Amino acid sequence: MYRSHTCGQLNASFIGQEVRLSGWVQKIRNLGGMTFIDLRDRYGITQLAFNDGTDEALLLKARKLGREYVISIIGEVLERENKNPKMSTGEIEIKVTKLDILNASLTPPFTIEEESDGGEELRMKYRYLDLRREPVKKNIMLRHKVAQAARAFLNSADFLEIETPYLIKSTPEGARDFVVPSRMNEGQFYALPQSPQTFKQLLMVSGYDRYYQIVRCFRDEDLRADRQPEFTQIDCEMAFVEQADILSTFEKFVKSLLKEIKGVEVENFPVLTYAEAMEQYGNDKPDIRFEMKLNQINNLVQNNGFQVFDDAETVLAISVENCASYTRKQLDAITNWVKRPQIGMNGLIWSKYNEDGSFKSSVDKFYTEEEQALWHQQCGSKPGDLILVLAGAETKTRKAMSELRLYMAEELGLRKADEYAPLWVVDFPLLEWDEESGRFHAMHHPFTSPKLEDFALLDTDPGKVRANAYDIVLNGNEIGGGSIRIHDRAVQSRMFEVLGFSPEEAKAQFGFLMDAFEYGAPPHGGIAFGFDRLVALLGGSETIRDFIAFPKNNSGRDLMINSPSPIDSEQLKELGIALEQKVK
Ligand code: AMO
Repeated sequence: MYRSHTCGQLNASFIGQEVRLSGWVQKIRNLGGMTFIDLRDRYGITQLAFNDGTDEALLLKARKLGREYVISIIGEVLERENKNPKMSTGEIEIKVTKLDILNASLTPPFTIEEESDGGEELRMKYRYLDLRREPVKKNIMLRHKVAQAARAFLNSADFLEIETPYLIKSTPEGARDFVVPSRMNEGQFYALPQSPQTFKQLLMVSGYDRYYQIVRCFRDEDLRADRQPEFTQIDCEMAFVEQADILSTFEKFVKSLLKEIKGVEVENFPVLTYAEAMEQYGNDKPDIRFEMKLNQINNLVQNNGFQVFDDAETVLAISVENCASYTRKQLDAITNWVKRPQIGMNGLIWSKYNEDGSFKSSVDKFYTEEEQALWHQQCGSKPGDLILVLAGAETKTRKAMSELRLYMAEELGLRKADEYAPLWVVDFPLLEWDEESGRFHAMHHPFTSPKLEDFALLDTDPGKVRANAYDIVLNGNEIGGGSIRIHDRAVQSRMFEVLGFSPEEAKAQFGFLMDAFEYGAPPHGGIAFGFDRLVALLGGSETIRDFIAFPKNNSGRDLMINSPSPIDSEQLKELGIALEQKVK
């Protein structure tokens, strides 16, 4: 037996008992005649004490220990002289009578404490040590808890957890596939799933009318804080449902997670159309923890002789609460921020609604106080507020204003990690035009159904067709997306046609799905949540890497196992792959 208790378990009620603990040496303090060791395991830290009366050999052994040694001890639980109310075990210490060293440790390359002195790279290389740190451990445990809560909800709602294959054929979700060569089928490749989309639809055809899976997905795309090449979805599908059924089921799901994990009760989720989200926030994943909506003020400012506004396709304003007192320096800093290449605007106009009711702007030469008053009125300002204005081409300016809105909110501390503001964004466009390939792409994926009332537009103005597609957004992050699917072969064929597939290409790639639609496919739809993103947000962060046990870095590398890596020529030969660069 290595342990009778864990290092997080003992308190005053155990005083006088003999216990056995095992764990890692977190810290050693030699204080004159006394030696204290903090012993750590997954559950907590317990203080071990070796005092003057301790047997000499035992004391010598204790003094030889180093950080991260694995030890096992037997001792008596004593009341501590200097209690630590911040620790669950802070009332007691163990007077050690026996010490076994189970394994020695090299000095770790960084400190394994709350705040480590190791840089990101080093911690990724020794991820198994980083995982010992309390904040990382907390994240991993949170992930487990969220997975359990998700499963509990879905199980109780009669969803079946069904696994789908990882070695598949490409699913067109818009990113590149990771491919796997087949040894037995030389020159042919599997693709790793970008999502189980087609399989879950086939399960609906098979009659498993509520499916879910907490499933790994693979996408070869550019990485960011909220994107990993392999990530996890809570993937769900339902048959005999309309959009309203899905929204209501998964609103309950998200509410239950927020309640269970954060103890937060949220009201019914607002529903914005894509068009409304773009108009009000310049973004299809708006952060609605704060207002600061976008206002188009072309009608108030154009044809006034101010060239910048007169020439602009769009003039957009936001009203920032209580910032009329901003100094010139602060305003210059914001101006410089919008001029950064990532934002790319030429400049920023501002107007202050002073507390005394007067107005002051950076364009007083062109606009009177009365005119500025109208801008503020349109933006819903009150005395003390500041208006920021950007002007230029519609798409670019709207995007820049959306960024500026988030920047100001961040500056003003309005993006509070412990506040949760979920919403639905619905009625996405079915298609988006891709300049590069000169054709339409499915905005969600090709299996998403068009709105019935827009169907005729597919022939005349495909860009205008709206889809039965929805996203769920939490604090400015897209945490999930889904749609009501096409379940009719003719409609699916038409969709592939619009996307530029020849009938032969469509049959070769998706014949299996279209065939299935001819054997009694029920109406169906679903959603997939980005599990890593959801967990990160519940943990108060937007960086999913910190919530994945063994993540990749932003170049898609695992620094610990050093992958990807070359494979030897024998292996390549066996797979029937000749790498030209190998020959060169
Ligand atoms: P979608 O492509 O919107 O939909 O993906 C669903 C959710 O997965 C998360 N996500 C990611 N998380 C981390 N890293 C990534 N690279 C990454 N890519 C996506 C997002 C996103 O909202 N098959 C459809 C779902 C459906 O229609 O039911 C799908 O995969 O949070």
